[in-house]
Amino acid sequence: MEILINMEGNDVPTASEMFRAQAHIYKHTFHFANSMVLRCAIQLGIPDIIHSHKQPMTLSELVSELKLPPAKSNGIYRLMRLLKHSGWFDTKKLDETSETQEGYVLTASSKLLLKSEIPNLSPFVRALVDPVMVIPWQCLGDWFLGNEATSFETVYGAPMWEYCDQNPRYNKAFNEAMSSDSEMTSLVVKDCREIFEELDSLVDVGGGTGVMAKTILGAFPRIKCTVLDLLHVVANMPEIENLKYVGGDMFQSIPPADAFLFKAHIYKHAFGYANSMALNCAIQFGIPDIIHNHKKPITLPELLSALKLPSSKSTGIYRLMCLLVHSRFFATVKIDENSDTEGYILTTPSRVIVDPILFNTWKLLGEWFRKKNEEATAFETAYRLCESFVQKIQDSTKFSMKEWLVIPK
Ligand SMILES: C[S@@+](CC[C@H](N)C(=O)[O-])C[C@H]1O[C@@H](n2cnc3c(N)ncnc32)[C@H](O)[C@@H]1O
Repeated sequence: MEILINMEGNDVPTASEMFRAQAHIYKHTFHFANSMVLRCAIQLGIPDIIHSHKQPMTLSELVSELKLPPAKSNGIYRLMRLLKHSGWFDTKKLDETSETQEGYVLTASSKLLLKSEIPNLSPFVRALVDPVMVIPWQCLGDWFLGNEATSFETVYGAPMWEYCDQNPRYNKAFNEAMSSDSEMTSLVVKDCREIFEELDSLVDVGGGTGVMAKTILGAFPRIKCTVLDLLHVVANMPEIENLKYVGGDMFQSIPPADAFLFKAHIYKHAFGYANSMALNCAIQFGIPDIIHNHKKPITLPELLSALKLPSSKSTGIYRLMCLLVHSRFFATVKIDENSDTEGYILTTPSRVIVDPILFNTWKLLGEWFRKKNEEATAFETAYRLCESFVQKIQDSTKFSMKEWLVIPK
C-alpha cells in the first residue's frame, strides 16, 4: 500500500485512498488474530492431525477427528480459512477426478509445528502467545506513563526473569520455547561448518537449557561448550562431556572462551499482536493528533516533549515509532530540504480502538472450540455471559462505538 500523507497543506486524500487507509487500520487492528489462530491450531493439534491423515483432509474429516461439538464445525471452517490465508495450510483436490472436493494439507511452515518432528516450533508459539507474554503488550501505554523498566514489570511487578523464577509453569513453557527455537540451529551448524571448525571453546550467553550448545557439540564434539544462564534456568542441568553449565549474570561476568554466542530472534506470526498493541498505545497517547496538530514533521524530541513522558522512556517511544513506521501508520521525512534530521508525519490511517474487550475473546478461541455448552461465540466464553458483542460494547465506557466512527481528518 502506498503511503498516504495527510499533513496540512498537502493533498487531501481521495475517498478511495481513505477506504484503503481504513482497510489498513482494520488489518492492523485485527493483526493479533493471526497469533491467536495459530495458537489455537496448535492447542487443538491440527497440524499433527493433518499430518497423521497422510492425504488431503476434508473439513468434515478434520471436525470428526477433532471430536468437537457439531456446533463448532462452522468455526473450524473459519479458523482454517484464516490459517490458509496466512500460509499455515493449503488445500488440494482429493483426487484427480474430483472436481470440487478439496482437503487440507500442510505447508512448509506448519511442518515446523509437528510434535513428532525436530525442529518443532510449537512450544515457541505457545509460550510467546501465552497471556503471560501478551498482557504486557496490552499495557504498553501504562508502561510509558509509569517508572518501571519494562511493561512486563508494569503488569507483574517484577522483571521477566524474576517472574519466571517464581512461576514454574511459565518458566517451563518459556524454556521449552527457547529450546525448540534452538533446534533450528542444527541447520546453521550444517551449513556454516567453517565458523565452528576453528574454535576450541565457546560460551552460549543466555543459552537456556543448552539445546543450542548440544547441537553444536553433536557436530563438533571437541569444542568445550559452556552455557551461561540465570541460576534458576541452569540449576540441576546434567553436564555431559565438553558441556558445562554456569549459573550467573551475563552483565557481571562471562567465562573466557574463543567465541561467544548471543541468540534470540522474533517471529513474525507469533508476534502479530505487537502491531495491534503498538497501534492501541499510539492511539491511547493521542500520537496521531499530536503529529497532526504539529502541522509539520515532528522530531522524536518534539514528540517526547509533547507526550510529557519521563526521559527514561525515550528509547521506548523510538522503538514504538519504528514499529508503527514499519506498519505504515506513520512515515518519516526530512524536516526540511537542508537538514538530515527526520520527523514523523501522518499517513492517512490514524484512529481506531484496539480494546482488550475484543482481544480477550481471541485469546479464548481454543477454549471456545473445546467447550461443549452452547456459547454461540468466543466472546460469550470470554465474558461468561450470554449478551451480544454489540450490547457489551454499548455498555462499556472504555469501548465507545462513537470512537469507531471518527473519520481521520
Ligand atoms: C530469549 S532467551 C534466549 C535463549 C537462547 N539463547 C535461545 O535463543 O534459545 C534469553 C535467555 O537469557 C537468559 N538471561 C536473561 N538475563 C540474563 C542475565 N542477566 N544473565 C544470563 N542470562 C540471562 C534467560 O534466562 C533466557 O534463557
